Amino acid sequence: MLSQQKCIAVFALVCCFAVLVALIFSSVDVWGEDEDGITEENCSKDCRIVLVENIPGELSFNTSSHTPLTTGLNHLLDLAKLSVEIVSPFWALASVDQGSRVYSSYQGQHLFQRLLSLKSRGVKLKVVSDQPSSLEVKSLSERSAEVRYVNMTALTRGRMLSSFWVVDRKHIYIGSAGMNLKAFSKLKELGIVVYDCSCLALDLHRIFSFYWQLQYRDYVPSIWSKRVTAVYSRDEPLQLSLNNTDASAYVSASPDLFCPKSRSRDIDAIRHVIRTARKFVYISVTDYLPLAAVLRDVRVRLLISLWTHTHPLTLNFMASMQALCTGLPGCSVETRFYRGKELMGGFQHRINENKFVVTDNAVYIGNLDWAGSEFANNAGAGLVIQESENHQEGRESIVEQLTAAFERDWFSPYTISLQAASTALQECQNLKQKLRDLKRKPE
Ligand SMILES: *[C@@H]1O[C@H](CO)[C@@H](O)[C@H](O)[C@H]1NC(C)=O
Ligand SMILES: *[C@@H]1O[C@H](CO)[C@@H](O)[C@H](O)[C@H]1NC(C)=O
Ligand SMILES: *[C@@H]1O[C@H](CO)[C@@H](O)[C@H](O)[C@H]1NC(C)=O
Ligand SMILES: *[C@@H]1O[C@H](CO)[C@@H](O)[C@H](O)[C@H]1NC(C)=O
Repeated sequence: MLSQQKCIAVFALVCCFAVLVALIFSSVDVWGEDEDGITEENCSKDCRIVLVENIPGELSFNTSSHTPLTTGLNHLLDLAKLSVEIVSPFWALASVDQGSRVYSSYQGQHLFQRLLSLKSRGVKLKVVSDQPSSLEVKSLSERSAEVRYVNMTALTRGRMLSSFWVVDRKHIYIGSAGMNLKAFSKLKELGIVVYDCSCLALDLHRIFSFYWQLQYRDYVPSIWSKRVTAVYSRDEPLQLSLNNTDASAYVSASPDLFCPKSRSRDIDAIRHVIRTARKFVYISVTDYLPLAAVLRDVRVRLLISLWTHTHPLTLNFMASMQALCTGLPGCSVETRFYRGKELMGGFQHRINENKFVVTDNAVYIGNLDWAGSEFANNAGAGLVIQESENHQEGRESIVEQLTAAFERDWFSPYTISLQAASTALQECQNLKQKLRDLKRKPE
């Protein structure tokens, strides 16, 4: 009798315990993956950094040319031994399957073939995409990659615009270019590749790992595993060495919903970089709408793309900002518009895809444009690099290289003033209206 009671009590206890364990495990909803034994304590901080760019053939710059984007990405594939993790807003390397015109480029084809052949080298390819209907993503998943689909519409009504690579949890690429063959031909793109930097790679991998866990979900769980939270942040950045120069760095992300408490948000990262500028702030983006107030005693230069979808408010905003600034002592805000080669009486192509800010002591390179709702709904990532106080002047650093790239664009024949941009935009609008009228006419 007594032993039966005991038995029941023990059974009840075991049941309670099982339920408890089940509860704990089910509440931690976003699991990370195994991190191959790399930890914050023994990851590598002695890194090399290379600025990579795509300059379309029709543009000619006679100064500072950097490593071509394709060279950088191909080099990463040369190094890959274990894994390549890629997130990209589009996949159109082999041919453009979204647009009406189909054209191909050798570089795109070649890169695509190399990605397909990773499997035969024993390298795992992992891809996150929000485009389930993309032919290329399908082809990758059938032939060589493990693909996970994130339904951004259900999660935030936004897009997955993140664009980065993590190779062997050691090397990274982050920048404006996605896996689109135009990024190697027609568009002006800028990014950076960091080698032998498992600390930074670990942090970026955690963002990837988080996307990886979002497959089939229509909500973002509130409890996250430690393996998808941030390793470094604005308040506790990674102290590292880039080409033997001391610096600090961290990775930021968007939207808010995708940032656990420890992760710095893109917007905060940008504000921080701007706030800590002492002499100048140079901003190069495709679209810009009021974001960070930059009216301070520093020289501000904004380089914005002029293209068919440039928001007319952008020009109004720039004009009022310049007017405001004129009344303030020490304030200097200049805006120029980048429009690449003139095509068909205007600017049809969105040609300058760059998304960065560089100041006298820091850089932010990201995936998103600086227009209000971009950061609220879309997924993106950014990288902040701050030079240490004791940086030796004269030694070419990433900050100096990016400054030079900005100045090259700023002073190039491809930019126009605010006033000229207003006129051009007006002309473009008139042209569009004329085309519409023509189409509407019978016959
Ligand atoms: C790093 O440390 C972890 C545990 O502290 C260990 O398991 C792992 O093997 C170490 N990795 C390297 C590359 O030293
Ligand atoms: C570079 O090009 C600019 C205009 O495109 C020109 O003014 C300048 O003289 C050129 N510099 C050299 C070194 O060729
Ligand atoms: C993504 O989510 C939306 C909204 O919940 C839904 O309508 C759509 O069918 C989903 N897409 C896919 C491919 O599952
Ligand atoms: C870092 O070193 C590599 C060669 O090791 C070089 O290609 C690159 O331009 C350097 N980066 C900077 C910012 O100086």
